[in-house]
Amino acid sequence: MLIKTQDKGFIHPFSSEITPERLYRRRRELIQLMAGGAAGAALATWAGREAMAQGVARPGKHAALPGGKSAVAGAVTMDKVTDYKDASTYNKFYEFGTDKADPAKNAGTLATSPWTVEVEGLVKKPARYTLEDLIKLSAQEERIYRLRCVEGWSMVIPWVGYSMAELIKKVEPLGSAKYVEFFTQADPKTMPFVGSRVLEWPYVEGLRMDEAMNPLTLLTFGMYGEVLPNQNGAPVRLVVPWKYGFKSGKSIVKIRFTDKEPKTAWNKAAPQEYGFFSNVNPNVDHPRWSQASERRIGEDGLFAKKRKTLMFNGSEAQVAQLYAGMDLKKFF
Ligand code: MTE
Repeated sequence: MLIKTQDKGFIHPFSSEITPERLYRRRRELIQLMAGGAAGAALATWAGREAMAQGVARPGKHAALPGGKSAVAGAVTMDKVTDYKDASTYNKFYEFGTDKADPAKNAGTLATSPWTVEVEGLVKKPARYTLEDLIKLSAQEERIYRLRCVEGWSMVIPWVGYSMAELIKKVEPLGSAKYVEFFTQADPKTMPFVGSRVLEWPYVEGLRMDEAMNPLTLLTFGMYGEVLPNQNGAPVRLVVPWKYGFKSGKSIVKIRFTDKEPKTAWNKAAPQEYGFFSNVNPNVDHPRWSQASERRIGEDGLFAKKRKTLMFNGSEAQVAQLYAGMDLKKFF
C-alpha cells in the first residue's frame, strides 16, 4: 500500500528500514490526536496501521505509561522499531530460565506490587522509594534505543523512563562515591531459576559515576507506551544504550553508591569474557566470537543481512569522551 504524505511524496510504510525522526514524531502526534478523538476515521486507520508497523502504538496489554518527547541528544535512534511481540518474547532474564522464550513463559510469577527501591551507600540523602514515588520523581520520556546483546543480536525498543541522573541528583552523592551498584530482585519463591548455578544471585550490575550520570542512562519503567511486562524487567530496570544488554539490570530493588568497582554478575561468572565496562565495540572481539556485526531480531529471513555493529552502539558522539585516553581493549 502507498501512503501520500504532504511533503515527501509517496512512501511505502513497510519497506523503509529507517524512520526519519520528523516522520516518527508526526506519527506520534497523530496517535496522540487519535487518542484525543480529534482525527477523522481515515486518518485513524492509516496512522494506526503505521504506528503498529513501527511498533510504537500501545499494544494494550498493560497499563499505559506514555512518555513525553525527550530533549536528550541521541535519545531517539531512527532504525525501525522492533515488533512488540519480539521485544516481549525473545528475552534474557536468567532468573526465569536460560532459553530466550523462558522469561515470557515464566515471569508471570514475578510479584511487582508492592515494590520498593532502596538507595544507600555514599549519599547525603539515602532513601527508600516506593515504586509510585520513584515513577513520580521526574517526567517520563520516551527514548528509542538499540539494545545490542553480547551474543550478537539486537532490537530497537521505545523505552519510557527518565535519566538516572535525575535520581542521582536527588540523593546527593558524596565526593567519595565513584561507582553505582544495582541489585536486582532475587526471590526463589517467585523466580524459579534463582538458585541455579549459572550465575551468582542476585544479578548485580554497576556503572562508573560519570556513566550513571550520562543523560542517556535511563531508569526505565515502561516500553511501547505501557508499563514494562515482567519479562522485560518490571517494574523498574536500567537501560544503558551504549553497553551490551547485560549491563542493563532488570527488576531493580537496591541502588548503592560506592567507592569500589562493583563485582558484577557476568564478570564474576567469566571475567575473561565480560569486563566491567562492556561498551559495545565492533573492534574488540569477545574471546569466542567477533562483535563486528549483529543480527536484528525480526529480520531473520534466510537472506537477511547482518548489520555492522556501531561503535558505542551508535552513541559515540554522546559517550566517547567518557573513555578518552583509555585502552578499550584492556578495559573491555
Ligand atoms: N537482568 C537480570 N536481573 N537478569 C538477567 O538475566 N539479562 C541481561 C539484561 N538484564 C538479565 C538482566 C541481558 S544478558 C540482556 S541482553 C538484557 O537484560 C535483555 O533485556 P530484554 O530481555 O528486555 O531485551
